[in-house]
Amino acid sequence: MDKNRVYIFDTTLRDGEQVPGCQLTTVEKIIIAKELEELGVDIIEAGFPISSPGDFQSVVEISKAVTEPVICALTRANNADIDAAAEALRFAKRGRIHTGIGASDMHIKYKFNSTREAILERAVAAVKYARKFTDDVEFYAEDAGRADVVYLAQMIEAVIAAGATTVNIPDTNGYCLPGTYGEKIKFLVDNVKNIDKAIISVHCHNDLGLATANSIAGVINGARQVECTINGIGERAGNTSLEEVAMILKTHHGLGYNTNINSKRISNISSLVSSMMRMPVQPNKAIVGRNAFAHSSGIHQDGVLKHRENYEIIDPEEVGIESNSIILTARSGRHALKHHLERLGYKIDKINLDEVYQRFLVMADKTKEINDHDLQVLMGDGDSHN
Ligand code: KIV
Ligand code: ZN
Repeated sequence: MDKNRVYIFDTTLRDGEQVPGCQLTTVEKIIIAKELEELGVDIIEAGFPISSPGDFQSVVEISKAVTEPVICALTRANNADIDAAAEALRFAKRGRIHTGIGASDMHIKYKFNSTREAILERAVAAVKYARKFTDDVEFYAEDAGRADVVYLAQMIEAVIAAGATTVNIPDTNGYCLPGTYGEKIKFLVDNVKNIDKAIISVHCHNDLGLATANSIAGVINGARQVECTINGIGERAGNTSLEEVAMILKTHHGLGYNTNINSKRISNISSLVSSMMRMPVQPNKAIVGRNAFAHSSGIHQDGVLKHRENYEIIDPEEVGIESNSIILTARSGRHALKHHLERLGYKIDKINLDEVYQRFLVMADKTKEINDHDLQVLMGDGDSHN
């Protein structure tokens, strides 16, 4: 087994789909699941079967339609949930049951009105029960980010002994800092008996904007599965972004980690998920935002036109975008203007660039962005709308 292989667990169709307004039909979920398969994700969390008949049916249909990734279904730590998940996964070539329970004192007291001992017993019982249906059982220790690390270690040790093959350490509330989350993972690596019998998974929420940073800290400290969503959609401020994790591990290949993600499909699936879920991507979103490869200030434009890597750490083609864009605004310089005029077929040696540039600035000051039609007007070739 490759010790540096990082498994990508996509939960767009479960944690992502929980977002108000993002609900999908079964047909839409199958389309996204097939695209996730093409993208190369290792595990697709297809739904939470007991939550509704529609979600149950989606897990059934995705299990039939998608064969390469493991298909995973979520449950709480009770037999009825686990029965429903096992039933929904019956057509999966490889099915995984993802069961779990709260691990923080906050959840134990205020969500379950219980004790650490009783919760530990429920965790173990759920894993043992799930193992009756499949030998691929993942356990989540909900709110692990705020849980006492010694108790968390006891819980993880007990569920591995009960048969969990993946142990998920969620920062459910996006509370942790990369340093403390990384230390938590390291503590488990160093202190849990038989930890090498399971894969440690990270599942981080983005309440403080740290989901991706925390996930990477988890990987650096020994986690080998990352739970994430396309465009980082998910509860509240969202989940870790799949595209960010994939491109961080690829860009920093010196760290030695590898995934199965075909990054050239990232842009395509980002647009698909955004339009199907009616959830626009913020323009400055890393990797997939409209401005992620757009340059608008004169200094940057000049630099990127001289050598792309002056201002780009990723080749846009690597994520399936044809090319970067040089946006013409009143902040652009002569180099960018010349670039666009040449692209439109104007012979620069036949025009007075300085004079055109002065007129360009006057025009650009009146608008947000100069497009090709504006440039034609500037050159006396188009109809002005003014
Ligand atoms: O955020 C979380 O803790 C979860 C679990 C159900 C895995 O989504
Ligand atoms: Zn979550």
